[in-house]
Amino acid sequence: MEKNQRKLNKSFYIETYGCQMNIADSEIVTSILCNDGYSLSEYLEEANIILFNSCSVREKAELTLKKRLDQLQFIKKKKKTLFGVIGCLSKQVRDILLKEKKIDFFVNPNSYKEMSNFIRYAMIGQKNLSINHQKNETYADISPFLKRDKITTFLSITRGCDNMCTFCIVPFTRGREISSNPYYIIDECKRLYQNGYKEITLLGQNVDSYRWTQGLITIDFSELLNFLAIEIPSIRIRFSTSNPHDMSDKVLKIISKHSNICKHIHLPVQSGSNKILKLMNRKYTREKYLSLVNRIRAIIPECSISHDIMTGFCNEEEKDHQDTLDLMNKIQYNYGYMFSYSPRPGTYAYKKLKDNVPQNVKIERLKEIIDLQKKHSSFRMKEYLGKVQEVLIEGESKKNNQYWYGRNTQNLIVVFPKESYKIGNIVSVKINDCTPATLIGKIYKDVKKWNPSKI
Ligand code: SAH
Ligand code: F3S
Repeated sequence: MEKNQRKLNKSFYIETYGCQMNIADSEIVTSILCNDGYSLSEYLEEANIILFNSCSVREKAELTLKKRLDQLQFIKKKKKTLFGVIGCLSKQVRDILLKEKKIDFFVNPNSYKEMSNFIRYAMIGQKNLSINHQKNETYADISPFLKRDKITTFLSITRGCDNMCTFCIVPFTRGREISSNPYYIIDECKRLYQNGYKEITLLGQNVDSYRWTQGLITIDFSELLNFLAIEIPSIRIRFSTSNPHDMSDKVLKIISKHSNICKHIHLPVQSGSNKILKLMNRKYTREKYLSLVNRIRAIIPECSISHDIMTGFCNEEEKDHQDTLDLMNKIQYNYGYMFSYSPRPGTYAYKKLKDNVPQNVKIERLKEIIDLQKKHSSFRMKEYLGKVQEVLIEGESKKNNQYWYGRNTQNLIVVFPKESYKIGNIVSVKINDCTPATLIGKIYKDVKKWNPSKI
């Protein structure tokens, strides 16, 4: 009887952890399941299938998932809800969770089209293990699930990664890099625009290595950006992540040419020390990175730059850490994401290098870079005081429901009193105050005097 009830109630709930790519994947999975006759439930308690879209890039993310699964085991037992994990999970953790019956099935990022089969097998208590397919899936033919009232979204243009940075689990969980068909990408962006979206972030672990070839035609990332900017002039285009090794001047020139391509580059550096960059297999030196930043600033002067930095990688000495602080001081990034290294099973660093920086040193160094970044963010935010910014309204400010929040082209958060404007409007805001993370302003009505090219 219970089994039959489960079959009738094909509703699922999805919890997403980790990066923007996982958010985009959850929308793909939702589309696939809805097409297969399942319905998306807004409430966890109501669903009879709960999916956890996982991330195992850092140990902390994996621990969060395990804790959440433990927390929810009572629902699983009481309501016989099926638990499925999808996404980037290391093989070790996946095997333990299945063995301990904390989850009923696991689907890797290349097998989402077979999702219903995994669910069906799990419903009758059978195992159907998702193995990594040789050929990676782009899902270019699946339109992401459209959410109501949303105006910004993500679209994956490449999947997987070939870079093999020695600390990183992504090439093992997501497989080899593959680029989506540009015609699908353009059609999908048009569909998103027609459905009310105002901003699309193109995603890939390394978007600059986007390359699609058919016969004699090859389209690279700069050409894709150029096509999109021309085809859909009213949509804002962002992209992430740029790998310093692959970013070309051709791309920079295209960004500077089109006003609808946002002026922000997320450029993970990881470390400012050449010794550490080499151990990480990052394929650039601090000199090359600094020269790229100089070229970005020469070609797109108004561009903001953000980073990822990791402290305490194997063999990192105090002088390597000082090199990182020095590089940060030279660049004065707008903002950044900072982590301390955690070894990931299966990676080169896990197998071949010693995790020999004591935990307390990793944490101290992390604190130092976070403090320094705060100082730089504060300095960069102050550069906007008195300036007028073009802001896409995304929602209500979390701290004050009388204020909207949105982002300027540099991807910086701007909050301002609502007046009569609505979510999705693009407005001019004059900045009169700031914190290290937020610009604060007021709608600027004297638009005639405003020349966007001078911002
Ligand atoms: N594709 C991106 C990175 C994806 S992972 C790139 O080109 O850099 C996102 C970030 O997580 C990385 O930039 C790195 O700073 C951090 N990270 C990855 N593996 C990690 C690990 N083992 N320990 C701590 N941080 C890690
Ligand atoms: Fe990871 Fe390096 Fe690719 S950080 S995602 S292997 S670019």
